Amino acid sequence: MQSSAIRRKFLDFFEKRGHTVVPSSSLIPDDPSVLLTTAGMQQFKPYYTGEADPMTSIHPTLGRALGSRNAVSIQKSFRTSDIDEVGDERHLTFFEMMGNFSFGGYFKKEAIKYAFDFLTEEVGLEISYVTIFEGKDTIGVPKDEASRKIWQSLGVTDIREEGIEDVFWGPTGSSGPCGPTTEVYCKNGAGEDIEVWNIVFNEFFFNGSREELLLGASGKKLERLKTPGVDTGMGLERLAMCVQKTKTVFETDLFEEHIAVLPADYTDRQKRIVADHARAGVFLLADGIRPSNKDRGYILRRLLRRAIVSGSDIARLLEITVAQYGAFYPELTHEHGRILAAYVDEHAKFSRTLRHGLKELERTETLDAKSAFRLYESFGLPYEVIKDYDGGKKTLGLTREAFDEEFRKHQEISRAGSTAKFGGHGLYMKTGEVTIRDESEVEKVTRLHTATHLLHAALRAVLGSEVRQDGSDITVERTRFDFRFPRKVTADELKKVEDWVNNTVRRDLTVQWEEMAYEEGIKKGALGFFREKYPPRVKIYTMYDTASDEVISCEFCGGPHVTHTAEVGKFTIIKEEASSAGVRRIRGVVE
Ligand code: ALA
Repeated sequence: MQSSAIRRKFLDFFEKRGHTVVPSSSLIPDDPSVLLTTAGMQQFKPYYTGEADPMTSIHPTLGRALGSRNAVSIQKSFRTSDIDEVGDERHLTFFEMMGNFSFGGYFKKEAIKYAFDFLTEEVGLEISYVTIFEGKDTIGVPKDEASRKIWQSLGVTDIREEGIEDVFWGPTGSSGPCGPTTEVYCKNGAGEDIEVWNIVFNEFFFNGSREELLLGASGKKLERLKTPGVDTGMGLERLAMCVQKTKTVFETDLFEEHIAVLPADYTDRQKRIVADHARAGVFLLADGIRPSNKDRGYILRRLLRRAIVSGSDIARLLEITVAQYGAFYPELTHEHGRILAAYVDEHAKFSRTLRHGLKELERTETLDAKSAFRLYESFGLPYEVIKDYDGGKKTLGLTREAFDEEFRKHQEISRAGSTAKFGGHGLYMKTGEVTIRDESEVEKVTRLHTATHLLHAALRAVLGSEVRQDGSDITVERTRFDFRFPRKVTADELKKVEDWVNNTVRRDLTVQWEEMAYEEGIKKGALGFFREKYPPRVKIYTMYDTASDEVISCEFCGGPHVTHTAEVGKFTIIKEEASSAGVRRIRGVVE
């Protein structure tokens, strides 16, 4: 049975049983506390809590009320927690989650019976065993005897009890519905029992995160929901493994074409990673996510760059995904051109720095989290690329946790820097919240930012080292630089400054940053501006000539900057004027 037939059967089965068919919601969830959609129930959260009524509230994508207390969907889902597992037989980042839901319509008896009937009758599987919740006193939830009885009445005898980690779902995000689950296991083509269906009985609401629930955080209560609900999830890819009797998800028809076009000399692991990442990339791009250095954009960037590094024809894999999935997910077909264009753009960006980055990786003996993060920051090499380099020989001690910790520290420094005003550098909103703009704007502002440091250095070289920065402001269009200087700068001097900047740009100096204590930065001779209050830990950007080690510029700065000055392009001064007494103002642009 093809996966397209499984999808159809699933929707039909539940539609016939009074469920409204609801399209998948976007991978970008409405809930701001969740980065990406990880489960089918997310779009239905308000129905469980009573904030919305399925009979009367307008559903945002249907454009009308559900008109039923039951719904069915096939939800695009993405689990970042599984990124490091991809490469084995069945872990994926993106997957399709089939689910049936009830918000006060039916409960355990029907939900279990539906699952039993669908698996045994519609797709012809045998159930190996099921699990039920063993109960937990500390949260006041008893053993799920009701589910045991229902399974027994259907002839299922292997019923296993499990704990809160495995068979108690939710909440997603910072609070939400949650409850005990019962899971169904069937055999795949390798004869292994795998979990195919998770049936959640949303009986509770928890006003904290899942982590807090597991930790038993004080002051956070598990409350009974007024109307208990049902939330189920069955990964299409896993079910296809059982139905099509394959040993891995990558041998199902969902990945057949992807795997077939990958070079034969790749290991299975490499093929699986590339296939997963390319497919996931298409779905993220189709929902409007673009590669960047933040949040969702960063996840997408990691997937794409890791796929690109493999050297295979990723554009072809993207085309295969659009062609194969477009019939069921029309946004793929609709966004086809934009998906490809965004990929080509990211490919070009990455190729530019990849060469330098790999050279640096080659040179480095062993990598810890700090040096790995520096490679990411300077060259855009994602964690996975660094970790896998040369068969992982240089990164034995490197862990994702330590790398993420570096990332987090860096973001905090950037944030502190942006509120303290590391120049109005045009990338961050006034609140200090890091909000990166559209990718092409980011690139432009980044180039202007580096140009500003060069302008500062040029003014000191041409007019003398008494020049003192008094402020700067960068927008997507231009940089504006204020400095203390007692008189008008002549046309001849401006020309010299401009030439100095452009000559330095052409020398293609390396731009690098380091994080250090403020005092250490002062000792290094880093320039800042003196009306400024800096945080105790700062970033210092240095531009230097790798051949001679000559340092051209060294400044306190939150970044971001290009990695090589040649990326700045041609710099032109468009205006020089007085800003206030003793302060001059220069505006410049880059092309
Ligand atoms: N929400 C449940 C899950 O994702 C069904 O497993």
